[in-house]
Amino acid sequence: MKKLIQRMIMLAPLVLAAQTSNVVLPQDKGPDKIDVSAYPAPQQAAYKVFSTKCSKCHTIARPINTMMKRDEWERYVKRMMHKPNSGISDAQGKQIFEFLVLDETERKDKNPKAFFPALSDEEIEKLKKQ
Ligand code: HEC
Repeated sequence: MKKLIQRMIMLAPLVLAAQTSNVVLPQDKGPDKIDVSAYPAPQQAAYKVFSTKCSKCHTIARPINTMMKRDEWERYVKRMMHKPNSGISDAQGKQIFEFLVLDETERKDKNPKAFFPALSDEEIEKLKKQ
């Protein structure tokens, strides 16, 4: 039993590392806050859920500075939800998705030069191998 516990303690950092994104993307270095004061109340509430849930494995700056179309955000939020221990429920995922779509039209689409396009799956794989 003692051995098992020791082994679990030794492996814990590995398990954590597997869940966190160890890659730094350019958007990680951008601003890490959104001024949501002009957004409708439900989106202001959703911003809080987003800030807590989507900062667990990488910077919150990453989603804040990445541009995606509606269907890409839908796919991406699901993908993030399905990562081990994401801690995001279906209801929270939906709330976050709706927030991201509003924020995309209100903030990003109006000033696309200030943001980063999403990487393709191939680009992400390449980064992970570096
Ligand atoms: C369980 C860990 C985890 C959580 C929670 C998480 N992410 Fe991620 N995220 C990752 C990893 C790992 C990557 C690197 C790419 C990959 O593996 O898909 C990533 C990459 C990204 C990217 C980069 C995409 C690109 O192409 O540049 C965005 C945007 C993103 N996440 C948004 C979110 C949002 C929005 C949430 C909250 C709904 C979230 N993440 C929650 C682990 C997580």
